[in-house]
Amino acid sequence: MLDLHTHILPAMDDGSRNVDETMEMLAAEKAMGVTRIALTPHFYPHREDPERFLRRRARCYAQMENDARYEGVRPKRLLLGAEVAYFEGISRMEDVEKLCIGDTRALLVEMPFCRWNDRMLGEILYLQKHCDLQPVLAHVERFLKYQPGGLMEELADSGVCLQVNASFFLHWQTRSKAMKMLSRGQIHFLGSDCHNMQARKPNMGDALQTISKKLGKDALQHLTRMERMLLEGTR
Ligand SMILES: [Fe+2]
Repeated sequence: MLDLHTHILPAMDDGSRNVDETMEMLAAEKAMGVTRIALTPHFYPHREDPERFLRRRARCYAQMENDARYEGVRPKRLLLGAEVAYFEGISRMEDVEKLCIGDTRALLVEMPFCRWNDRMLGEILYLQKHCDLQPVLAHVERFLKYQPGGLMEELADSGVCLQVNASFFLHWQTRSKAMKMLSRGQIHFLGSDCHNMQARKPNMGDALQTISKKLGKDALQHLTRMERMLLEGTR
């Protein structure tokens, strides 16, 4: 299974603080059977340009890879990416494709905490229709309360992918909503959005178990199908 959204790189953002914590997080992912991991540190366009971000990311990655413990916890596939904070003009940003996940065309975008206006939605759709990119909206469950009913369905129908955090399936207050969205095909990817080994630790295994128990294996197959399409570049 793929964890599409993580903050595992050491000392890159507000996620893992150092290589020790990174190794613990990778070991936890491995123990849960997560074999593919996208590393998606925050990218804030008002703080740095893509080039500087990519240089910093390469340094953090090297620090992780050069650690003697890495061989023991290395996932089968690791994809370097970013969680790109939405900003006005994102669809016109030069080199935006360099922030995509691995060698895919998928761009993980963190939308703002407000009702998304036509301009914002227009930019996301522009990325998809005219930039040959696959926008994936990060942890959409956080924004549901701000949006009009039916918006997520419309976005999914328009080809925008939606990612939710594993915790959406784990809290009793949100679990039924999560199951409903997954059954309706409005969830394309799952991520742990793990930041550490305390309050925000890797938790994909628990979510996958819950989904499998409530909805059966077919629901998981939908997620693995999406994963395959993403990694093979067919979506
Ligand atoms: Fe995140």
